[in-house]
Amino acid sequence: MAQLVQRYLDRIRAEHTGVTDGALADYIPELARVDPDGYGLSLSSVDGFVYESGDTAVEFTIQSVSKPFTYALALAHLGADAVDAVIGVEPSGEAFNEISVDHLTKTPKNPMINAGAIAAVSLIPADSPGERFAMIQDFYSAFAGRRLELDEEVYASEKATGSRNRAIGYMLQSFGVLDDDPDEVLDVYYRQCSLRVTSTDLAIMGATLARGGTCPTTGTRVADASVIKRTLSVMVTCGMYDAAGDWVSAVGMPAKSGVGGGIVAVLPGQLGIGTYSPLLDAKGHSVRGVRLCRSLSEQLGLHFLTVSRDSRATLRAVYEPAEGIRVYEAHGDLLFSGAEQLVRTAERERADSDVAILDVTGVDDIDDAARALLSDMSQALCADGKQGFLVDPDGTVVGARADLEAIRFPDVGSALTAAHEWLAQHQRIPG
Ligand code: DON
Repeated sequence: MAQLVQRYLDRIRAEHTGVTDGALADYIPELARVDPDGYGLSLSSVDGFVYESGDTAVEFTIQSVSKPFTYALALAHLGADAVDAVIGVEPSGEAFNEISVDHLTKTPKNPMINAGAIAAVSLIPADSPGERFAMIQDFYSAFAGRRLELDEEVYASEKATGSRNRAIGYMLQSFGVLDDDPDEVLDVYYRQCSLRVTSTDLAIMGATLARGGTCPTTGTRVADASVIKRTLSVMVTCGMYDAAGDWVSAVGMPAKSGVGGGIVAVLPGQLGIGTYSPLLDAKGHSVRGVRLCRSLSEQLGLHFLTVSRDSRATLRAVYEPAEGIRVYEAHGDLLFSGAEQLVRTAERERADSDVAILDVTGVDDIDDAARALLSDMSQALCADGKQGFLVDPDGTVVGARADLEAIRFPDVGSALTAAHEWLAQHQRIPG
């Protein structure tokens, strides 16, 4: 059956094979030496199944696709407050290599443009540039689930021609953003940009982000969910630079591009996409990569703001197995909006029953907001002289809440027995 999906991806990729617009990045001379026809598409599910179409084994340099990962490493080591003090999170609406800082704070506007990315490198806590680069290389490799290696030629080429980045580095030093020697920081930045990846590496790195920080092919936890949430947020607003608005409208996935020809796109909770085609548009994004991502999003319904179903799906059934008892059966992921709907329904029907049984056997996951709401609901029922019971065989909803343990049952049958006993004790049995 996986062949079906493979055929979809092959077909979507083929739609853009004839596109030859764009130009190789030649401001880094070594990048102008690659085969302009290279064209690959990889997609990794969050459980690590990888689909590959075209030139997915071709290695190219990661370039700016590296930026979210170094930002994540800085967040992991220093925390968001310390990183925010040095790098903003506002879209700049500028080109990636703009020599700019925020007018008020005199710090880089975001970590996706070069100024912010260079500042992010300087935040990685290490005793030497070599150690700093090793930390970056290890971190990216953990995201990709395999060792990523340096392209020495591209690194040397970028270093030899990096006047623009040197200007940015010294500007940052003059504003007190860089504590370290700008040339040492830039050397690490050039190296991070020169790590070699394939489109499949990018898809797996994307799937690691999509999975909240666990690499799907190795099962290794690489970063905390809070770090990933922040990183994906900045990718949404700033990852495609001054094309971010177009990208979010048309594609709707957090993403990052690089002048090596790669794009990583992430559908949180679902998948990672890696594309490769080195012919770039005027803003430095792969022409075929952008088109591919648009088509994938449109044809496979991947836009992250697609409203696919409403939260009524959480409440699967409501029934009355006996007079005075009402059962609410929930399923799927119970988040705030689903719990709100449940509580509201129970509230509306409160007068019709004395015992409410919430059956969460089919609930896969619950967040803290929903758990708090449900425990408040059971307290409100008690305060009203009524009773709430939970059917929660796996403890999904109860979690570590000892107060909910007292009303928890392994199945509907035992909850119903308890409900009848409660009704009898409280003399609510009619007649
Ligand atoms: O700093 C540079 O110019 C390159 N190493 C990276 C630029 C880049 O990939 C821009 N993104 N599309």
